[in-house]
Amino acid sequence: MNQTSNTVRFVLDGAMIEATGEHHCTSVLDYLREHLHRTGTKEGCAEGDCGACVILIGELDDQGTAVNYLPVNSCLQLVPTLDGKSVKTVESLQRGQGQLHPVQQAMAESHGTQCGFCTPGIVMSLAGLVQTVAKPTRSEINDALSGNLCRCTGYKPIVEATQKACEAGADQLRLDDSADLPLLQQLRRERPAQPLLLSATGETFAAPTSVQALADYLMQHPQATLLAGSTEIGLQVNKSFARPQQIVYLGQVSELRQVQDLGKAWQIGAQVSLTAVQSLVAQAYPDFAEVLRRFGSPPIRSTATLAGNIANGSPIGDSMPCLLALGATLLLRQGQRTRELPLDKFYTGQKKNALQAGEFIEAVLVPKPGPGEVFRAHKVSKRFDQDISATCCAMSYRLVRGRFTDVRLAYNGLAPSPCRAPQLEAVIEGRSAEEVNAKDLDQAIAASFTARDGLRASWTYRSLLARNLVLQFVEEASTGITETAP
Ligand SMILES: Cc1cc2nc3c(=O)[nH]c(=O)nc-3n(C[C@H](O)[C@H](O)[C@H](O)COP(=O)(O)OP(=O)(O)OC[C@H]3O[C@@H](n4cnc5c(N)ncnc54)[C@H](O)[C@@H]3O)c2cc1C
Ligand code: FES
Ligand code: FES
Repeated sequence: MNQTSNTVRFVLDGAMIEATGEHHCTSVLDYLREHLHRTGTKEGCAEGDCGACVILIGELDDQGTAVNYLPVNSCLQLVPTLDGKSVKTVESLQRGQGQLHPVQQAMAESHGTQCGFCTPGIVMSLAGLVQTVAKPTRSEINDALSGNLCRCTGYKPIVEATQKACEAGADQLRLDDSADLPLLQQLRRERPAQPLLLSATGETFAAPTSVQALADYLMQHPQATLLAGSTEIGLQVNKSFARPQQIVYLGQVSELRQVQDLGKAWQIGAQVSLTAVQSLVAQAYPDFAEVLRRFGSPPIRSTATLAGNIANGSPIGDSMPCLLALGATLLLRQGQRTRELPLDKFYTGQKKNALQAGEFIEAVLVPKPGPGEVFRAHKVSKRFDQDISATCCAMSYRLVRGRFTDVRLAYNGLAPSPCRAPQLEAVIEGRSAEEVNAKDLDQAIAASFTARDGLRASWTYRSLLARNLVLQFVEEASTGITETAP
């Protein structure tokens, strides 16, 4: 990784944009508004919650013949991550002779906007949805809007506008990217020539293009901040004014964007998005997919990663209870050396983990279901969508002659880091559903965790949830009901 460039190149509506000398922590939102005067994209919260800043980011598919678009919160993404990609803002939707995109036209006709501040973000989320789903269902529309807050209009006319827009048909809904394609192809051809981006102010943003180059870089710069989906780092930049001296970005490492089918497990690369993981596990583990569907919102999930969630190590991180109950393992790399570490050995304290200097998570190994294995999970939060857990509980087991066997139970929100609960597992292991009772579970909860109230929930509430979610899973095992709780 010895070549350097000070220029980030991306495509915007058929034009090649060259961002030179930009500070490596400048957000895409600020760049769009202040340098490119794309002021249709708004700043509401600057923390990924309101959706006023949603844009679409496009990337060439593997064949290099089409562009795949994903909605992202531009407030959380840093400009150098755009290198080699295409950007669509609300201004990109304009067609010849002032014609509006069908989503915009229907929003106007259905009275889907009042003050209008949220509207560009809503239009972009919906325009993103209809690129892949020409006739979305009501729940797909609701999900697409879960990261867009509108405080004036109410969602009924917005949902109706989406349904009306879809009457225009897929051809009309599709973004015109004929002028972008050749430029994106050119960027792909030229990309290996500029893997390291240097900022003008002395800080570095490194974007290696292979795992080996990433590992070598981290051995030389063990203090560098790893950047994956940027949904935590972007928050630290905006809200804590963090300005990491050295950032190393995983997004250009193609190996880390792959899922490998190992037969009995999936090896999920560190840069695979949660959106992709959600689809991957939907059939084998519907409850896991539902926890991921309620993780942030589509613009968060389209960049956020499992590895980032695990490394960040929040006590209320949502993927970890599921991964712990599934017996997931981490593939860690430090230079040439790799090792596998079960996730339940990873955390050493609150936001502390077993990673050594220069070591990183290369992939997460998620076992596929074995014969008779049942997996259940449910997240409880104050708001159903786009909210952080009070607690999330996940459990896997097999029923052998009516008795629970191979029980693995895990939580977030109860301890300094997400964890398994061996004493609760012991209460369930070997028993029939009728033999598992609230009193034994309550005693095991009291013996396992230190009672502490949190901002999001009191200990009384959390410990009741911890017990009742298990009782629900146990009860449903005995009645054969396995669908997710409403
Ligand atoms: C609006 C909003 C909603 C959210 N909702 C939820 C939610 O519902 N549930 C939930 O659990 N979280 C939620 N989060 C938190 C966040 O989205 C997740 O933690 C996400 O998985 C982080 O992944 P990332 O790829 O974006 O990480 P980044 O921000 O890129 O990095 C996060 C941390 O992990 C480190 N890191 C990243 N990749 C690696 C690697 N391969 N090896 C070692 N270290 C690495 C980084 O250095 C950094 O310290 C939300 C965040 C926002 C802003
Ligand atoms: S400004 Fe609110 S999500 Fe980006
Ligand atoms: S129209 Fe005012 S916030 Fe949505």
